[in-house]
Amino acid sequence: MTNDLYINMINEAATAIGQAIATTMPVPKVAIVLGSGLGKLADQIENPIVISYAQIPHFKQSTAVGHRGNLIAGTLGGRPVMAMQGRFHYYEGYTMREVTLPTRVMARLGVNTLFVSNAAGAMNPDYKVGDLMVIDDHINFMPNPLLGPNLDEFGTRFPDMTEAYSRRLRNLADATAADMGVALRHGVYVAETGPTYETPAEYRMYRAMGGDAVGMSTVPEVIVARHCGIEVFGMSVITNQANDLGDDCRNDGDDVVRAADRASGTMTTLFTKMIEHC
Ligand code: HPA
Repeated sequence: MTNDLYINMINEAATAIGQAIATTMPVPKVAIVLGSGLGKLADQIENPIVISYAQIPHFKQSTAVGHRGNLIAGTLGGRPVMAMQGRFHYYEGYTMREVTLPTRVMARLGVNTLFVSNAAGAMNPDYKVGDLMVIDDHINFMPNPLLGPNLDEFGTRFPDMTEAYSRRLRNLADATAADMGVALRHGVYVAETGPTYETPAEYRMYRAMGGDAVGMSTVPEVIVARHCGIEVFGMSVITNQANDLGDDCRNDGDDVVRAADRASGTMTTLFTKMIEHC
């Protein structure tokens, strides 16, 4: 696909969303991507305008379990926000340009701060199911979403990644969590394509490389957001152990979604309070 065609698609999607919300509220500067089992945050959005992905030109369908497929605009923490209740994954068969189209649409609409969340397995043996991990950094084993002709009007050919996850927002998360009396982990998120979970040898490799948690999403959106100059905060909800636990440890997609759902209340409160102050 040519850059011109792709940019037209981004513009058409942005226009449709803008038209759906602009008569009711200011176009949000803060966007949230809700990962597997984390869609409940959207229930806290006040005066919601719900736009199903089917109504947005060039948005795909969310086929993954625990992903509902709505863009919801409204107020959270007293500020206009838009939340993606479900994302597109590379393992669903979408191209990286399709996976990251919504992120570029957000940039087009004027979003300058992105909160991304995901369900992740813990390589770090100290982590427990239900822990919240601030993503300090990532290691990317997916194809880079910026491969191919650069979209010059969005950003530079060689984007800096030394602070992919905003230090300012990570500090704000710590201060907010301290106020709430909630403990946060800080770690490195490893992104792989999936859809298989890892073999024990792969867990050991990721751990040896410096990874704390592993998942199948987030990094494409983060790379594209940084390319566009959007400030990013990332959070993993630990839904399962992804380390060598012995013969009776198995991974299962439904367990992952259930564990994410249980932890989603705390993450919702944290995001809401951070958005109030960011
Ligand atoms: N591995 C990969 N992706 C995941 C996991 C995991 O253990 N848990 C939730 N998403």
